[in-house]
Amino acid sequence: SPVAAFDFVIVGATGDLTMRKLLPAFFEQFCRGRIAVGTKIIGAARSDLTDEAYRQRAKEGLQQFAASAKSAPDKIEAFLPFLHYVSLDMSDRHADWTRLTSLLDQDEGRSRVFYVATAPRLYVPTAEAIAHNGLITDTTRLVLEKPIGTDLTSADAINDGVGKHFREEQVFRIDHYLGKQTVQNILALRFANPVLERIWDADSIACVQITAAETVGVGKRGPYYDTAGALRDMVQNHLLQVLCLVAMEPPTALSATDLRDEKLKILRALKPMTSEGVARDTIRGQYVAAAANGEQIPGYLEDLGTPASHTETWLALRTEIRTPRWAGVPFYIRTGKRMARKETEIVIQFRPQPWPVFQDTPEPGFLILRIQPDEGVSLSLSSKDPTAPGFRLRETQLDVSYPQAFGVRYPDSYEDLLMAAVAGDQVLFIRRDEVTAAWQWVEPILKGWAEDVRPMETYAAGTQGPASSDALLARDGFAWKESAV
Ligand code: BG6
Repeated sequence: SPVAAFDFVIVGATGDLTMRKLLPAFFEQFCRGRIAVGTKIIGAARSDLTDEAYRQRAKEGLQQFAASAKSAPDKIEAFLPFLHYVSLDMSDRHADWTRLTSLLDQDEGRSRVFYVATAPRLYVPTAEAIAHNGLITDTTRLVLEKPIGTDLTSADAINDGVGKHFREEQVFRIDHYLGKQTVQNILALRFANPVLERIWDADSIACVQITAAETVGVGKRGPYYDTAGALRDMVQNHLLQVLCLVAMEPPTALSATDLRDEKLKILRALKPMTSEGVARDTIRGQYVAAAANGEQIPGYLEDLGTPASHTETWLALRTEIRTPRWAGVPFYIRTGKRMARKETEIVIQFRPQPWPVFQDTPEPGFLILRIQPDEGVSLSLSSKDPTAPGFRLRETQLDVSYPQAFGVRYPDSYEDLLMAAVAGDQVLFIRRDEVTAAWQWVEPILKGWAEDVRPMETYAAGTQGPASSDALLARDGFAWKESAV
């Protein structure tokens, strides 16, 4: 059923994110009957375009990026009239805002969202200009894309600047990992299945491994990426959020306050990195050219077109969570570009069987939560091997594939998030204190790297990272659990 008609202004409406993610997400929601007549999706950007010209661009974008575009081409035509375009630099409070103002509905109860998909340096001027032009009602929301800053000081400056005009309840900091069904499912698995939750602690779990591996390089995003690197781009936000969901205590209720309170406790309980910790427990690397799968893959510097860079495209680190539940359990995080496989997953490694009943030592048990692709969960069990004489053990899998189990296309993460912003539900968005706590934990690593306490390593494009990444786990008696290739 449709949600009440709303106004949704996309600031930076001609950009990549709008075409790849935002418009396709609304289109899918439209195909499911959730966009009510009267809703306005208003693109704003500097280019001088008519509504018609913008709709034409949107149509091409949808044909290329919307999952249902092929099966429902007539729906695209029906969807386009919801789109409007305003030629306006929304970071300029003195520009001519009359057309935008006249497009917005004056009904006080109607949801109004400003989605800022521009460079972060424009967040504060844009928030100010929206306020200056009197467009903030009680039911107005401001959505901000990551990155929120490049360190704690710059994050504070954005949050302070925006906070002068929008209450915290109106600010929606997006982390698209929280829009992934499989990430949300961590909560269902843990808190709806007592059989798992009862063994979810240091007594039963030996270590946790979180891997987010990508095969792509930095592509056209080099200029941004080179100022960020893997730690700021993936860990400060996405992977710390995933870690929080894996490690947090059960929230009292699935509400924005309760859920975010629990995540915050984990961020604050992360063992702080000292400079010895950075040298010992982090590894950073940059990909170099290599031949893989019969293809010559360029290195990062070639991708970037510069002779030198100190930006990591890969990292691995070890941390601990200082709570009774997790005392002494290592959490390993690994992420990078140009790795061997595209795969985001969480591996829970259980403690070994304590007594040698069998001649074979059983494999340690693993629970693997596959975030993407191939969404699912598998539990490895040591079983009696019927093909071997005597009592031999072999590892077998209990395996659920979610797309098969539910028989559906998995929605893109932006679909849930955009509709939640419209509804004013912050449960899947990042609260200011989470951003602060995440930067507080990340900053000593950035500092240690800047001081080169942990020098940059290299890895061949198409591999899982520098060899030293194995040593990081081997030291504790573990190994990265690689999916069968
Ligand atoms: C983005 C990062 O936030 O997440 C990108 O800026 C990264 O560098 C992307 O590729 C990964 O998202 P996903 O959904 O493909 O895992």
